[in-house]
Amino acid sequence: MAEVKTIGILTSGGDAPGMNAAIRAVVRTAIAAGLKVKGIRRGYAGLLNNEIIDMDTKSVSEIMRRGGTILFTARCKEFMSKEGQEKGAKILKDNGIEGLIVIGGDGSFMGAQKLAGLGINTIGIPGTIDLDIACTDYTIGFDTAVNTAVSAIDKIKDTSMSHERCSIIEVMGRNAGYIALWCEIANGADGILIPEKEEFDEQELIDRILSNRQKGKTHHVVINAEGIGRSNRLAKRIETATGIETRATILGHIQRGGTPTAKDRVYASTMGAYAVDLLKRGGTNRVIAHRNGNFVDFDIDEALAMKKGIDEYQFMISRLMVMY
Ligand code: ADP
Ligand code: F6P
Repeated sequence: MAEVKTIGILTSGGDAPGMNAAIRAVVRTAIAAGLKVKGIRRGYAGLLNNEIIDMDTKSVSEIMRRGGTILFTARCKEFMSKEGQEKGAKILKDNGIEGLIVIGGDGSFMGAQKLAGLGINTIGIPGTIDLDIACTDYTIGFDTAVNTAVSAIDKIKDTSMSHERCSIIEVMGRNAGYIALWCEIANGADGILIPEKEEFDEQELIDRILSNRQKGKTHHVVINAEGIGRSNRLAKRIETATGIETRATILGHIQRGGTPTAKDRVYASTMGAYAVDLLKRGGTNRVIAHRNGNFVDFDIDEALAMKKGIDEYQFMISRLMVMY
């Protein structure tokens, strides 16, 4: 196994607040260990275009409090092919990069896994607002995103209460209901729709809204994870069925931006430093996780084979608090 002297770092897939803290930690802990760091811009797409820059202590000054990723991010179809991956591995080797840190989700880890098979030492850091990576209880960006959604829902509730309306609020998570579930628990809602529980009964939701109104509730909130139903159409159907004025709000990309929370900064920094540590020790094809209160790492193959559903206990208590 080649000794790692130069580390590459890229961000890939959807951006997430806290990615910059991880980049900063990688750069500074690598330099402290006498390693060189190169930043690859625009994820795997930038790699295939040789968009590689030298990074030093100064290049990561004052980035921690900024959302997004200073390295830019992208999705790249070409890298899904064997030819694309071989081209990427060659570009890394031509630039003297023996070790690569990839911040992203499961798709990005699959890319890292392929590069590991082509002789590049790779380490994945979980970065996604969706919290949908099975091996870890924490992903960079979820904490910030869910806090953004919770405070936006608080604001919508103020106007919804004043007008005695029903609000359908769509949060992000095309394939994952964690933001929706946390908002339901943190904000209180009449119901949630999440991809993990597709057997959703719309009539039951309508009946619950009507029964809550009869019990004296003067406003209603339904949290809808992106991808489940269409919020505007759902709002019309609920208004027609209940007679209660209903509005839909799609929170959208506001959830992906903004100043990272302290948790996202600290956990992302720890994971960045941990990734450098693993590379120094000859680690490859590993993904970093936070599990049962500890920072740990898994083989990428093992991590990708794990399955994550919604937390059934949290889902159950969220139901109880809606019904009683
Ligand atoms: P995320 O990393 O957040 O899951 P994507 O699924 O969009 O985001 O993946 C990001 C990028 O990772 C893709 O655009 C592609 O370049 C790369 N990727 C995804 N799946 C694979 C795969 N099976 N093999 C190689 N690269 C992949
Ligand atoms: O994976 C993060 C995420 O924000 C999802 O919640 C959402 O479904 C998706 O990315 C949106 O992606 P895009 O960048 O294409 O808008």
